[in-house]
Order: sequence, then C-alpha cells, then structure tokens
Amino acid sequence: MADARRPLMAGNWKMNLNHFEANLLVQKLAASLTEQQLADVEVAVLPPFTDLRTVQTAVDGDKLNIEYGAQDISTHKSGAYTGEIAGFMLEKLGCTYVLAGHSERREYHNEDDATVNAKVKAAYASNLTPILCVGEGLTIREENGHVGHCTAQVVAGLEGLTPEQVKRIVIAYEPVWAIGTGKTATPEDAQEVCGEIRARISEVYGAEVAGAVRVLYGGSVKAANIASIMVKPDVDGALIGGASLDAEEFASIVRYREHVAR
Ligand code: PGA
Repeated sequence: MADARRPLMAGNWKMNLNHFEANLLVQKLAASLTEQQLADVEVAVLPPFTDLRTVQTAVDGDKLNIEYGAQDISTHKSGAYTGEIAGFMLEKLGCTYVLAGHSERREYHNEDDATVNAKVKAAYASNLTPILCVGEGLTIREENGHVGHCTAQVVAGLEGLTPEQVKRIVIAYEPVWAIGTGKTATPEDAQEVCGEIRARISEVYGAEVAGAVRVLYGGSVKAANIASIMVKPDVDGALIGGASLDAEEFASIVRYREHVAR
C-alpha cells in the first residue's frame, strides 16, 4: 500500500456474538495490541446493532483506540419503517463506519446498486463513513468480467457524491467466491481489482481523490495470508469476517508487518 494511506483492518462480525461476548472480544482485542500498533494501523469492528451500545461503552470507558460501526443503515431518515435502523441513531452511538452493499445484503436482501447508493448517501447525511463493498460471483470471474463488474458497482455506489465525500470513502473489494469459503484470491487477483477500482475513481474524480481513497480486500483473510496481500500497492487494508471473531487471530492480522509475506 502507499504510505500516505493509513491501513484499515475492519472486522465484520456479521450475525455473531451477543453483547456480553462483544464486550469480551473488544477488551481482548485491545489488550492484544500495543498503543503503537493501534496508531500504525486503524482497527475497526462492525458488530450487530444490539452490540453497538456495549462496544461504545467499552471503547469510551477505557479510551480504546478502536473504531466501530454498523453493518447496515436504512435509506430512510426516520419514521414508520419497522425493524430498520437510521443513520442518526448510529451517529448518536458514536459510530464511525457503516457497511453498504455487502454481498450478503445484495444477495439475501436483494439490495441493488441504487439501494446501495442510497445507503452510502444516508451514511454521509449522518456523518458516517461508508465502507462500500463490491465483488463478483464465480461465474463472472470465470467469464473474466470481474474488473468491469466491480468498477461498475463502484461508480454506481458513488453516484451523486461530491469529490470531498468520495475522498473519505472506504471501498472493500470482496470476491463473492472467496467469502467464508477458505478460498482467498491471490495477492495478484486482489491487486488487479483494487488497482482498477482506483484507476476508475481517478478517471471520474481525479488522481488526488483516487489517491486518498482506501481500498480494502476481503474474503477469507487470516493471519497466514494478510502480509502477502498488504504488500500490494493498491490494497490498503482488509475487511475480515470469520477471523475477526478471534481476538488473537485478528490482532495478528493487525500486526501484519511482523509477518513474512509468502
Ligand atoms: P470472511 O468474510 O473473512 O469470513 O471470508 C469477509 C466478509 O464477508 O466481509
């Protein structure tokens, strides 16, 4: 990655951990990392909604240098939307980030690019930083359509934003065939798509904006493979699912600079 961009390791807990377990994991994670390690690499956790207040209390109470955010946001401001969570609620809980367009939301909740774009805008309206997720399924990869597919998802997700907003966004490239499967894309695969995403952002918003955007890789990231992915110039961190539920493993991912790239 480029020196100008601070690496981000974000743990997507998905639908795991009750609030007691959330508290334990955050404490254990913070205890496993030094102040210097947490200064060098930004660490964020993305718990289920029901854990957010507990995570906020742990982070604020012990002044932990850990960011947190939500896994989803409503496209609506407030009102009669049973079961939905609005941006202002997440803002009040001190959230920094919110995921938009994770493949599991696109697949199981039929979220299309327009919905994802509305969520990205809802995030900015409540001073949250969206982590915009894009990625191709196996068929598209086998047909060699992955670059076009992912860059189109990025452009659609950013539609209508100002260059200043785009500069602050985080993009996560997650090939769907590598999520939770144990199959990681090769570091070259990750670099190819992350690089093309940055190039596309540069075409639309200019080189300065593209140079500031952090692009993460996600999909079966673990301590054993993170170092080889992080040496790639356009990969600025990772979105980590399963491995982020284990404090030791997640902390080891954050310490990737101490590993030898294989
Ligand atoms: P995984 O999930 O690390 O368990 O593959 C990544 C994600 O879905 O964000």
